[in-house]
Amino acid sequence: MIKIAPSLLSADFSKLEWEINRIKDHADLIHFDIMDGHFVPNITMGPMIVKSVRKSTKLPFDVHLMITEPDRYLKEFANAGADILTVHAETCPTLYRTLHSIKSLGKKAGLAINPATPLSHAENVLDLIDLLLVMTVDPGFGSQPFIEEMLPKIRKAKQLLDTAKHPIELEVDGGIHPNTAPLVREAGATILVAGSAVFSTDDPPEVAIQKLRGTHHRSSTLPKS
Ligand code: DX5
Ligand code: ZN
Repeated sequence: MIKIAPSLLSADFSKLEWEINRIKDHADLIHFDIMDGHFVPNITMGPMIVKSVRKSTKLPFDVHLMITEPDRYLKEFANAGADILTVHAETCPTLYRTLHSIKSLGKKAGLAINPATPLSHAENVLDLIDLLLVMTVDPGFGSQPFIEEMLPKIRKAKQLLDTAKHPIELEVDGGIHPNTAPLVREAGATILVAGSAVFSTDDPPEVAIQKLRGTHHRSSTLPKS
């Protein structure tokens, strides 16, 4: 079944533990959006927050590094409790070295590509990655509209990952809602990241997550015969 990774970016930061408790029995991973005000305009959180959330759940931590010079911080995020460390191709001039560093820290290595970045960036590093993150918005903010032109890229990414010798997750991030999730699932994604669709909705988190998985069916109220 498709995995759902709620992004804490849209959670209420004044009560993170409460937010985690609401989702932890329904989500597959927790997605952390780390932004530095350089690679992306926004500034969010650092390893200290990751470390403190680590006390609240055993779910895998999917740490999305939207920062320049990610090599400087890999160890800190690893020590803070990250399970997957995802770096952006656009920030890594020495990507082999960066991915090897993540592996040597004993963590899973992810590669993220922005909407305008070609998929070919992943071709030469397939042996080194555990996850490819195809962005469906330009990173920096939650609640942006899904860029539908990315669907063919997701399909091509699936074909590429199928040629690898080991399983590689295909994660999609940005604008994932109940109306866009089926398109992305059909295109071959294995992990959906969702911020606003989980935390900024009137649905309880379990229902919001079921809707993204495509497993939510309204309970029927058939009259008794
Ligand atoms: C975008 C982040 C996303 C974002 C998704 O820069 O990488 O993870 O939080 O938010 P939604 O699901 O609201 O588009
Ligand atoms: Zn993200």
